Amino acid sequence: MGFKIAFLVASAAVPCVVLAHRQPAPLNAINPLQNRQFTNWFPDPHPSPQKSYWLSEIPHQGTSPFLTNNTNYTVFRNVKDYGAKGDGSSDDTAAFTAAINAGGRCSGGTCGTGSTGQPALIYVPQGTYVVSSPIQLYIDTQVIGDAVNFPTIKASPAFAPSNGSVIAGFDPGQGSTTNFYIGLRNLNIDTTSVSINSTVSGLNWAVSQATNLIYVNFVLAPNSQHVGIQMDGGSGGGGSGTFLGDLTFTGGLIGIHLNNQQYAFKNITFTGVATGIAVQHLFVGTFQKMHFEDCGIAIDVGQADTAGSVSLIDSTADDCAVVLNGSSSFLLENVHVTNSGPLLYVNGTSRVLGNDLEDQTYVIGHLYFNSNGTLVQSMGQSLPYTERGALTDGDGLYLAKSQPQYIEYGADSVVSVKNVGARGDGQTDDTAAINAALKANAGCKITYFPHGVYLVTDTIYVPPGSRIVGEVWSTISASGKAFANERDPHVMFQVGKPGEVGVAEISDMLFTVADVLPGAILVEVNMAGSQKGDVSFHNSHYRVGGAADSRTETACQTTGSPCKAAFLLAHLTPSSQTYIENAWLWSADHDLDGSYNQVIGTGRGMFIESTRGTWLVGTASEHHILYAYQTYNAQNIFVNMQQVETPYFQPIPSAPTPWKPNATWHDPDFVGCGKNTTEPRCRMQWALRIVGEQTSTINIYGSGYWVFFNNYTTDCGNNNGNCQDSVVDLEKLPEDANVYLYNLNVRGVEEIVTIGGSDGLAAAERADNPGSWGGVLAAYLGFA
Ligand SMILES: *[C@@H]1O[C@H](CO)[C@@H](O)[C@H](O)[C@H]1NC(C)=O
Ligand SMILES: *[C@@H]1O[C@H](CO)[C@@H](O)[C@H](O)[C@H]1NC(C)=O
Ligand SMILES: *[C@@H]1O[C@H](CO)[C@@H](O)[C@H](O)[C@H]1NC(C)=O
Ligand SMILES: *[C@@H]1O[C@H](CO)[C@@H](O)[C@H](O)[C@H]1NC(C)=O
Ligand SMILES: *[C@@H]1O[C@H](CO)[C@@H](O)[C@H](O)[C@H]1NC(C)=O
Ligand SMILES: *[C@@H]1O[C@H](CO)[C@@H](O)[C@H](O)[C@H]1NC(C)=O
Ligand SMILES: *[C@@H]1O[C@H](CO)[C@@H](O)[C@H](O)[C@H]1NC(C)=O
Ligand SMILES: *[C@@H]1O[C@H](CO)[C@@H](O)[C@H](O)[C@H]1NC(C)=O
Ligand SMILES: *[C@@H]1O[C@H](CO)[C@@H](O)[C@H](O)[C@H]1NC(C)=O
Ligand SMILES: *[C@@H]1O[C@H](CO)[C@@H](O)[C@H](O)[C@H]1NC(C)=O
Ligand SMILES: *[C@@H]1O[C@H](CO)[C@@H](O)[C@H](O)[C@H]1NC(C)=O
Repeated sequence: MGFKIAFLVASAAVPCVVLAHRQPAPLNAINPLQNRQFTNWFPDPHPSPQKSYWLSEIPHQGTSPFLTNNTNYTVFRNVKDYGAKGDGSSDDTAAFTAAINAGGRCSGGTCGTGSTGQPALIYVPQGTYVVSSPIQLYIDTQVIGDAVNFPTIKASPAFAPSNGSVIAGFDPGQGSTTNFYIGLRNLNIDTTSVSINSTVSGLNWAVSQATNLIYVNFVLAPNSQHVGIQMDGGSGGGGSGTFLGDLTFTGGLIGIHLNNQQYAFKNITFTGVATGIAVQHLFVGTFQKMHFEDCGIAIDVGQADTAGSVSLIDSTADDCAVVLNGSSSFLLENVHVTNSGPLLYVNGTSRVLGNDLEDQTYVIGHLYFNSNGTLVQSMGQSLPYTERGALTDGDGLYLAKSQPQYIEYGADSVVSVKNVGARGDGQTDDTAAINAALKANAGCKITYFPHGVYLVTDTIYVPPGSRIVGEVWSTISASGKAFANERDPHVMFQVGKPGEVGVAEISDMLFTVADVLPGAILVEVNMAGSQKGDVSFHNSHYRVGGAADSRTETACQTTGSPCKAAFLLAHLTPSSQTYIENAWLWSADHDLDGSYNQVIGTGRGMFIESTRGTWLVGTASEHHILYAYQTYNAQNIFVNMQQVETPYFQPIPSAPTPWKPNATWHDPDFVGCGKNTTEPRCRMQWALRIVGEQTSTINIYGSGYWVFFNNYTTDCGNNNGNCQDSVVDLEKLPEDANVYLYNLNVRGVEEIVTIGGSDGLAAAERADNPGSWGGVLAAYLGFA
């Protein structure tokens, strides 16, 4: 009752409807009893479970403003409006296809509209939908089931071809490495009616960054040849992925047939699957919170044609014959095994590790224990357990959080910004409308951004108590002179003011610039959670250039002269505490919508100064001038896989050109590269800089720092040649900083780790550490 009084007093000026609340609240739900500072959230006195997901009931107002020749384009499509029955017997294949294709959509975004012009949210209500052939998705498609009652997509006994996928998530109109912006969630995919001898799979997911696969249950026939996920992009390979998680697999031959450059995996359960994960090709895979029950092999890397490195952490296996099989670079940490065969099988021989690696760290591969460059080639050994600092949950596991869907709330708890004055038309200044909506909704409503491009000319301030949800990546785009001055950089999307504490959850959004804006900082987080994980980003990405919604697409075309399109993409300031899952910070190397030459020179990728906890689960940062990731005096950072690419044009011009390094921002200055400003391999983006005497507890599990080009040329000597001098820079670190770099993979570089900047000490050379896509370290512990 105290809540009610506080509500009436505190909220007199902002009337707020009581939210329907279902008990018990699922994990990560908005639980008013745990968030006492939000005095205007309180339980419904008559809790009533929601019958269906609010997403289907809110007004559907998404538009595609840069699709110029179809003003009637519909973003939201409920499959039942296209004839699907969901009755468990009718064949709904044609209805799904009609929903996906409507509005002149076609494979690869090649229908003259570009790949960002035809977004579609395919909504699947509760029901069982029988399909007889693969449901083909296209780029810019998000399939979302009823989150309250997951629908089932069931392959019919006649499903054909017998080796096909129930959902064909890979769009063959693009190569697998450019299959971006595709999503699938809240579904059961069921192949139990198909002959056990068929090699049917639930999903073909040969896709890349900015894709979203969560909350899918794969139900495969027991003792069958069925596969949950395959990654078959034809001759183009399996893709360049970032994150997938919150999945279950039951039955079948293989849960995930893995064929991809890299991936972060989180919270996946396999039950009665013969091989949980079969690796065909993988340079970097980090597996967090995996649970295997009743299996032959949990993870089989042994039959891979390419295997770089595998990290398995905070995981369990029960009743499995073998846990991990293979011979590549391995890191196992806190793996709890019961009633199973060997935990580790190396080259077909079991390793005696005891039963269990609970609270232990074990490694195989190339190790560095000090900063003087001495390599230890290890066939397997225990390491001191990683110092986890403030990064754990109550059970000592690294904190993990799943994307919130607010299923305990009804449609009346969701406010569309389009209903309160925002236009999202790519022309109108929506700053005031969005700021007013966020202020009114804080601690009170979920703020929904129907698909659109929301231009803002000043900072959007996200107060404590904010829940923000986009639709097929709704875009907030910086515009105008406030963001033009690199001497006075200005934030577009500010989560909290310095020192503020509370909840801010952001899902399914995209951050960009509408123009060349050298002073634009796209996102700044200052807020910390009242509990760890309260400030979080899920499936929210960053794009600079490459699309019709920004003038950068046409303005930045001059070879040799990248434009200063944005200052910095994401800044996690000292007071922040942020969980980020599935983010792609992309400075465009090519045009998604047209064929303009893209020569974009974003200054910086992600800059972290936080000390209170930062979790980066499946992030990628590509093609920035100065660095992809930089930390300065940061503490308590957990990384589950991070992926980086150097700009293809560098060193023409040589970094830092076109930017001027600014010491206030702790920028690298590249002066150590010498006076020769055309030195071709030194003046290029750092993938990772860890800087500062106060640094502590930076735990990176799996990274892929890829360099494909030097001056757009692939020939860097040979495929494993040196296009770039070095990618990782460690500066001014205390010896006992607790910096743990596990399974660090590189391509096309000479030095894997450098101490002290451009003219620093080579602490680990690629030539000494062959493997993966050129070089791999199982553990770099020079500052552990
Ligand atoms: C607009 O779209 C609706 C639904 O897809 C369709 O029924 C209608 O014919 C379209 N109108 C025009 C003018 O294209
Ligand atoms: C829009 O233009 C493209 C390219 O000219 C064309 O392929 C497509 O059919 C057009 N769509 C509509 C709805 O007119
Ligand atoms: C299915 O088998 C056919 C014939 O062997 C082959 O051409 C095709 O690539 C296979 N498709 C898949 C998805 O494996
Ligand atoms: C599957 O294949 C095996 C071996 O060829 C055969 O004995 C069995 O009858 C087949 N089962 C089905 C359901 O087709
Ligand atoms: C883990 O994934 C399962 C399956 O999707 C989901 O039900 C569960 O909520 C997730 N667990 C956590 C802690 O988020
Ligand atoms: C395990 O790995 C070895 C190679 O290290 C490979 O020969 C074997 O096929 C793999 N799988 C099984 C089930 O042993
Ligand atoms: C490197 O450091 C280790 C331990 O700190 C020491 O044992 C080793 O001799 C040193 N090697 C060189 C070449 O200085
Ligand atoms: C596995 O076998 C290969 C080939 O004989 C060998 O190079 C490698 O060192 C072995 N790996 C381990 C960890 O024993
Ligand atoms: C360096 O950054 C600070 C802080 O943003 C700014 O005030 C200053 O003007 C910048 N200096 C230059 C030369 O850009
Ligand atoms: C600068 O470096 C380039 C490439 O290594 C070399 O060709 C050139 O001679 C150097 N210039 C000077 C002045 O050293
Ligand atoms: C960069 O590549 C272009 C195109 O191949 C070439 O003309 C130019 O000479 C190269 N520049 C340098 C410095 O190598």
